[in-house]
Amino acid sequence: MISRETIDEVKNRVDIVDVISDFVSLKRSGQNYKALSPFNNEKTPSFFVVPAKGIFKDFSSGKGGDAITFIMEHEGMSYLEAIRFLAKKYGVEIKEEAGSEEAREQQSERDGLYILMNFAKDYYRHNLFETEEGKGIGLSYFRERGFNDRTIQKFELGYALDGWSNLMDEAIKKNYNKELLEKTGLVVKNEEGRMYDRFRGRVIFPVHNLSGKVIAFGARMMGKEKNQPKYINSPETDIYHKSHVLYGLFQGKNAIRQRDTCYLVEGYTDVLSMHQSDVENVVASSGTALTEDQIKLIRRFTENVTVLFDGDAAGIKAALRGIDLILKGGLNVRVVLLPDGEDPDSYSRKVGTTEFHKYLATKTQDFISFKAGLYAAEAGNDPIRKAESIKEIVNSIALIPDPVKRSVYLQETSHQLKIGEPVLLAELNKLLVQERRKREREAPTQVPPEFDSALEQVQDTTPQTVDPRDMVYYQERETIRLLMNYANHVVDEDHRLVGFLLHELEDVEFSNPVFREIHDQFAEQLKKGQVPDSRYLLDQGSPEVKKAITDLMTDRYETSPHWKEKYQIFFPDEEEILKDMALTNVLRFKFRVVQKMIEENLSKLRVAEQKGDWPGVEKCLEQQEGLKTAERDLASMLGIVVAR
Ligand code: UTP
Ligand code: MN
Repeated sequence: MISRETIDEVKNRVDIVDVISDFVSLKRSGQNYKALSPFNNEKTPSFFVVPAKGIFKDFSSGKGGDAITFIMEHEGMSYLEAIRFLAKKYGVEIKEEAGSEEAREQQSERDGLYILMNFAKDYYRHNLFETEEGKGIGLSYFRERGFNDRTIQKFELGYALDGWSNLMDEAIKKNYNKELLEKTGLVVKNEEGRMYDRFRGRVIFPVHNLSGKVIAFGARMMGKEKNQPKYINSPETDIYHKSHVLYGLFQGKNAIRQRDTCYLVEGYTDVLSMHQSDVENVVASSGTALTEDQIKLIRRFTENVTVLFDGDAAGIKAALRGIDLILKGGLNVRVVLLPDGEDPDSYSRKVGTTEFHKYLATKTQDFISFKAGLYAAEAGNDPIRKAESIKEIVNSIALIPDPVKRSVYLQETSHQLKIGEPVLLAELNKLLVQERRKREREAPTQVPPEFDSALEQVQDTTPQTVDPRDMVYYQERETIRLLMNYANHVVDEDHRLVGFLLHELEDVEFSNPVFREIHDQFAEQLKKGQVPDSRYLLDQGSPEVKKAITDLMTDRYETSPHWKEKYQIFFPDEEEILKDMALTNVLRFKFRVVQKMIEENLSKLRVAEQKGDWPGVEKCLEQQEGLKTAERDLASMLGIVVAR
């Protein structure tokens, strides 16, 4: 561990202008300096350094901080790595904390592992270029796959000779420690205690850590031997934790930062081919779903991930699940679907660099809309499957930690699936509440009791499915809620909200008795030129009315400050959009009522048919036509297109 003393010493020595100048060409501007942002592509400078305060601020990306932060952000280093980096620059001697003997031994053992891995990498490279076997088999394999020398060098590719102890013999010859060699995983000990090389007769892909040190290898077989895995990889060691590493990040980090996007592919060869097609901002997950740590690693460089995947149905479904985790990690996810049966390696080579770039540029789509489209197409007009797809998509949206982004996605999904936002919002809130409950069960925290009951209420009154009857309930509730909270607000000219709503809904009868009672109270009072306030209603109303009123006054909109803190649920400021809200409320209400009437009329029709009551059937059909027209009119006013 670096001592506190060293850290302080580094902080005292650094000169932020000096540090940043190593990476960015700064121009003086009064007391300060400015430059084009190193974090974004931009034409006018929005990157500022304020030496007096020792800070920088990048307005294009929002990043800012001191010299250490800059190194962390720009070089993708951890805090301690940045300290070490700056200590070196300023010649500060790094004093390790007097830590235990054990800690020091571990450190020197790790250093030993790095040295051995570096030796092995050099050895494998030597084999590839300098031995007959390496050239004849390994190098010609790479060439055949279209990898040029520049790529082979950039990724330090190599070749493991086909024999049981080539690497081991070479290491021993050079006096490397045999025990440590085993700890690298480069050699394996069998049951009888005999040691042999792990990688034999395979091409070698070194895996680098962020500072470019080799920490593991992947080894691909040549031909198509049976009963052999295509790739053999290094085991976990003290310096290699698979879940913390992404293949290609070392070679791609600068491009990832500059382009502010990271392409995610599956394999070693995909990364290589993309580099060769001038797409350097790419990493490989090595065939598995990303781990949380890997997502954090990407976040050090960008918040945007674009996942490339094979367009077959199985590939898509598998990819969808992995992607949910990336959303949860707070990254913006986009996807590119490759043609069926192609991976980025095969496809980029097939169509060539220009076409490949064009493909990426035109086929990239936002993940949520992609998923919504996928499910919508699958569900067609089947209402049950449609309800399921809503759940699926809202599931993904619920994972996004940023409430503003969630709200935007909700709106877009609402348009795309032609489903009212309230339905989606209800579903989303339900999930968020469940999620929070689950978290609390796992790690109980103090929740104020009154808040818990508010949750209860939200959950209980949330419609579970997209049933027209539920939707009517929802709209009635929303109408009453608007009345309770904004009756006196002026919505247009001289109309107050209460007058507007009651007038517009004159011919609609509330089906929920409690809401009807409240509605009637408003209507009665309005006739006398008065508007009842909550106190009046609480005094006058039945117990059910009292409960409903309390619920509505503590509704999620009302408690939105709480909700914002606790659940990060985002609502627009209602007062600003009250007029629109009142109008859409009326339209939606009528729309749902009409839909409910359609359902009811249909069952009447069925009964009439069964009874052979033909005049009844005719009447129902006539009514159905009128209702359908009303539904269509309302829908078009609401911007909803009604299928059926
Ligand atoms: P792929 O089978 O897609 O391999 O596995 P690839 O990289 O495209 O290789 P080529 O094009 O056939 O040569 C994707 C990744 O999964 C891991 C590797 O990291 C590989 O790059 N993998 C795959 C293994 O670790 N072991 C295996 O046996 C197979
Ligand atoms: Mn491949």
